[in-house]
Amino acid sequence: MSKVLVTGGAGYIGSHTVVELITAGYEVVIVDNFSNSNPGSVDGIERIVGRRPALVEADCSDYAQMLQLFKDHSGIDGIIHFAALKAVGESVVKPLEYYRNNMLSIINLLSLMKDFGGKHFVFSSSCTVYGQPDILPVTETSPLKPAMSPYGNTKKVGEEIIRDTVLAVPSISAIALRYFNPIGAHPSALIGELPQGKPDNLIPFITQTAVGIRPVLQIFGNDYDSSDGTAIRDYFHVVDLAKAHVFALDRLFKGNNRKPLEFFNIGAGKGITVLEIVKAFEKVSGVKLNYEIVGRRAGDIEKVWADTRLAESELGWKAVSTLEDALLTAWNWEKRLRGL
Ligand code: UD1
Repeated sequence: MSKVLVTGGAGYIGSHTVVELITAGYEVVIVDNFSNSNPGSVDGIERIVGRRPALVEADCSDYAQMLQLFKDHSGIDGIIHFAALKAVGESVVKPLEYYRNNMLSIINLLSLMKDFGGKHFVFSSSCTVYGQPDILPVTETSPLKPAMSPYGNTKKVGEEIIRDTVLAVPSISAIALRYFNPIGAHPSALIGELPQGKPDNLIPFITQTAVGIRPVLQIFGNDYDSSDGTAIRDYFHVVDLAKAHVFALDRLFKGNNRKPLEFFNIGAGKGITVLEIVKAFEKVSGVKLNYEIVGRRAGDIEKVWADTRLAESELGWKAVSTLEDALLTAWNWEKRLRGL
């Protein structure tokens, strides 16, 4: 059984990925500092798969803690690296925290992989590296744009650190998955997105508004170039995203990768407006959402969606869940959280 370290494995995307990895036969060690997650998600994972993954509470940006982890858990063959700070707005206010946390974590993990003989690295990257693309849908060879926030820059520089490392250290190979907008929760409603405080992202804001925790959803801008004036993103189910990580890891383990570092767009390949999301949510939940249109949010791009043909042809991965499925699972998760 191949042993995989999943950093941020108690978090939103991490916990869904751990479920898929264990189901696919990988042995998982989770490392998480619970800065934006909680150990309850590991209970959820255990209830879904019937087995509890090893869990280490540690901070990936702390080299001494990570060294100890590698000594305690020998034979880590692969790493999936989720653990990162990810609030775009906060990163503008606290750039050094973002650079310290997100960059040191990558550097520590790659150094320890080199020293302990780990081989395969899968990185959580983001469509944010493309900025506002000139041509849509965006492909992996589209030009990268200067990042619009320190958070976005940590993804861009993260990719560069990995690229330079795999070129210098032939034993390590890597895949960077550039996610578009993952949403939804596990169909069991045992794990899902659990933002601390006021959510930044659209779907948790919608579900919290629907249960009455938030009085009104603000829609940021209706003067964009789209059918209804609201911004366009490529939303897709988090369980599909979780599976993409298993496909990526399998590819590295089998040596099917064509280059030491490969990039794949991971999305549904379809652009959807904010108002379309609101309407689809109202339909699947039967709840009328209270919303208002306000000004644009600083730093938002107008529209982005993925060309996913490379992921399909090379990874053999494609998003299969519908938008309605994803929204329904997000809604069921929120209701379960609130005891409804
Ligand atoms: C952003 C980042 C992405 C990052 C993700 C994680 C960019 C371009 N994208 O995604 O890299 O991984 O955050 O946090 O930096 N919206 C509202 N009202 C709300 C919330 C959102 O109208 O209360 C709108 C936004 O303006 C946007 C869409 O909903 O048009 C999606 O927003 P969000 O869920 O925050 O994701 P991104 O901004 O696309």
